Amino acid sequence: MSTPIAATLIPGDGIGPEIMDATLAVLDALGAPFVWERQVAGLEGVKVAGDPLPNATLDSIRRTRLALKGPLETPSGGGYRSSNVRLREEFQLYANLRPARTIIPGGRFDNIDLVVVRENLEGLYIGHEHYVKIDDDPHAVAMATGINTRAGGRRLLEFAFDHAVATGRKKVTIVHKANIMKALTGIFLDTGLKLYEDKYKGKFELDTVIIDACAMKLVLNPWQFDMLVTTNLFGDILSDLVAGLVGGLGMAPGANIGADAAIFEAVHGSAPDIAGKGLANPIALMLAAAMMLDHVKLPAMATQLRTAIDKTLNVDGVRTGDLGGQASTAEFTQAMIRRIQG
Ligand code: NAI
Repeated sequence: MSTPIAATLIPGDGIGPEIMDATLAVLDALGAPFVWERQVAGLEGVKVAGDPLPNATLDSIRRTRLALKGPLETPSGGGYRSSNVRLREEFQLYANLRPARTIIPGGRFDNIDLVVVRENLEGLYIGHEHYVKIDDDPHAVAMATGINTRAGGRRLLEFAFDHAVATGRKKVTIVHKANIMKALTGIFLDTGLKLYEDKYKGKFELDTVIIDACAMKLVLNPWQFDMLVTTNLFGDILSDLVAGLVGGLGMAPGANIGADAAIFEAVHGSAPDIAGKGLANPIALMLAAAMMLDHVKLPAMATQLRTAIDKTLNVDGVRTGDLGGQASTAEFTQAMIRRIQG
């Protein structure tokens, strides 16, 4: 019997509660030792507590330092700031880990097993943007400032390199654009090369590639890569590209890991178009839960969960509509539980 592990649970908006119920049922079947503190955020936070990121939710994560989170709705343009971005800043979740592995064979790209590690707090995403007025056009010029620090790059690169060693990755590729953005992305590249020479040489192969060439190579021959590590904006784009290689966002989990906490989530959003209809595919959140099990050092349980997903899809042939199947969220979940218990 494993020691109980306190963790914060945020079901989220739209399909969030449906895929979270499915994931909790599967974790229960596995006997995962999480003791959940159920909290709200996003639109549900506004409805229930008048705040998209209530203090009670932040306090809970401060205590547990561990959370499983459903998608949170963010209004585009106006409205409140993204609760996801605020969570990253609040808990200094500097590393975004996005694995992409083929689960359903026979697609356009087979046997993909790649991981993207993205810097989550710096770069062009810090939000220092403004317009300059010329004559009567208040938005005549748009400007953005990016900030990358050596310390910020180093801790992310260290996380990525340690993860590569711990998970037996053979090759790590630093993705940059130091030929054009010589300072902003040059600092990241230099820091990575030096860190490798100082601490990691011989533990894996290190390669570097320019972002545009990387995008082309990923489409032509993704198997040449093993782990990609990069700055915030490039990582955001590449991790979606890589998710596309393995069947889209419905299969893509993500972990936001930092000094003060780790938050696990599906990469997709709240899918308002199918919310409440029982159609959602819960696999991305289940895979996020598997990453959470790895994080709390329960790798056997994580493997059992991933194997059950694989068998349910490929042996039992139970799939939700987005994967070309007929199963509802509940039917897929029941099939998963039968696999785990059987
Ligand atoms: P989305 O990912 O919610 O939906 C895009 C399309 O994919 C929709 O057709 C949807 O039905 C489908 N889809 C997504 N997840 C699915 C699943 N598990 N099973 C079956 N189909 C699925 O992206 P969208 O519509 O741009 O965003 C909706 C809301 O979600 C927005 O408020 C956005 O801000 C938020 N969002 C939140 C994220 C998070 O909390 N991490 C990430 C991305 C978006």
